[in-house]
Amino acid sequence: MAKKLITCTINGEKVENYVDVRASLTDMLRNDYELTSVKKGCEVGECGACTVLINGEPFNSCIYLAIWADGKDILTLEGLTDKEGTISDIQQAFIDEGAVQCGFCTPGFIMSSLPIINSDREFTRDEIKKNISGNFCRCTGYQNIVNAIEKTAKARKANKTRQK
Ligand code: FES
Ligand code: FES
Repeated sequence: MAKKLITCTINGEKVENYVDVRASLTDMLRNDYELTSVKKGCEVGECGACTVLINGEPFNSCIYLAIWADGKDILTLEGLTDKEGTISDIQQAFIDEGAVQCGFCTPGFIMSSLPIINSDREFTRDEIKKNISGNFCRCTGYQNIVNAIEKTAKARKANKTRQK
């Protein structure tokens, strides 16, 4: 099987890896780096469970070839905790708002929410729903997920305003 050397950044760390040219980014992240927050759901780009940020944008890593990650900056949920292992505000908000049940979809939703909560502009609830429409949850009914994202986005904005 053909392999190719790629260089990329994963959760802030520069890595080099010989990857199978047919391997998905999901498989590379899970198998080579034990980043198991990247879930294998449908594996055909339908459910969003495998969402990671590539150069700051959410992608379904199951339909993204590992070789395409060459030169890119990859962020998974593991990259959101600090060095001491303390979880981020958005992860805490998911817990506080009851937005996690079985948890399988949670990493994907959180990764999809990052451009919303990091944005300087305010998203309406409808816009939040639209932006996470590629992610499926079979447990929660979505309302609490939207609540957690909305709450974190508001808190981050308030923080930024205070720091100005
Ligand atoms: S596992 Fe990638 S979109 Fe479902
Ligand atoms: S919490 Fe179970 S699929 Fe979303």
